[in-house]
Amino acid sequence: MSEEDRLPVTALLGFGTMGRALAAGLLAKGLATPKVLRVGARRPDAARAHAEPLELVAMPPDEAARGAEILVLAVKPRDVAGLLQRLREAGALDHHPLVISIAAGVRTASLADQAPGCALVRAMPNTPCAIGKGVTVICAGPGAEAHHLDLARRMFGCLGAVLELDEKHMDTVTGLSGSGPAFIYLVLEAMAEGAVMRGMPRAVALELAARVALGASEMLLATGRHPASLRDDVTTPAGCTIAGLLALEDGRIRSVLARGVETAAKVAGELAS
Ligand SMILES: NC(=O)c1ccc[n+]([C@@H]2O[C@H](COP(=O)([O-])OP(=O)(O)OC[C@H]3O[C@@H](n4cnc5c(N)ncnc54)[C@H](OP(=O)(O)O)[C@@H]3O)[C@@H](O)[C@H]2O)c1
Repeated sequence: MSEEDRLPVTALLGFGTMGRALAAGLLAKGLATPKVLRVGARRPDAARAHAEPLELVAMPPDEAARGAEILVLAVKPRDVAGLLQRLREAGALDHHPLVISIAAGVRTASLADQAPGCALVRAMPNTPCAIGKGVTVICAGPGAEAHHLDLARRMFGCLGAVLELDEKHMDTVTGLSGSGPAFIYLVLEAMAEGAVMRGMPRAVALELAARVALGASEMLLATGRHPASLRDDVTTPAGCTIAGLLALEDGRIRSVLARGVETAAKVAGELAS
């Protein structure tokens, strides 16, 4: 990758699960080098154990933010206001960097109050980003122009697919694709247990269930067909699949999963308050 295609100086503020996944993806894809990627941590000494294997330097957040063109807020929603206050007081926002927040439930209007004059982008990645198979939804906030969104698209593109939506959908995105991996893990565990009950070794059952989910998802994305139509293909009249599907519908699986996403989305909207 040529020098001009790489990210400008970027500070990752918060180096937990998501901050580390983002750093690993950016470095692996060559979109950033350790020279331009800074780690801003509340406890730099503790962060060093994770930063040094990536050849990154951990420092206090205001030091990391000073002069950086992009700041990524990767702290818990409740920590965003305190972090931005610290940056403001240290003058680390005076150069008006692009601020990309991945914090669930934190609106760009509230970020704009706390980071005046900065261009703001909100993003919602998910944990499969750690292995480059995630999905991130981005949305523009105050001050964000096309080139800012392009930077965010390139940044999260290192970690999987990127979609752009209006901010009004971001809590729903959090409930669907942010929390979604946990829901799928539960479904996979439950499906595997059905096979374990019939005597299949647990590890084989889990691998089979995971590969089924992978194949079915790729089939849906590749064909663009509706899930109901794909389901019809495997549902022979009087066969075993229709018998299994009816048992699932008896357990109200459809509304249970839909309500799970809806409930997670509602809670996401309350996380920052
Ligand atoms: N995990 C997910 O699946 C997921 C998915 C999408 C979006 N998100 C969003 O990503 C954000 C981070 O989540 P996470 O799972 O990575 O959380 P995490 O593992 O708890 O990491 C958060 C990190 O932020 C650090 N921190 C707190 N205050 C700080 C400050 N003032 N300056 C610098 N660092 C500070 C914490 O340091 P200490 O160790 O010192 O507390 C911790 O290392 C959240 O807002 C979440 O909503 C998460």
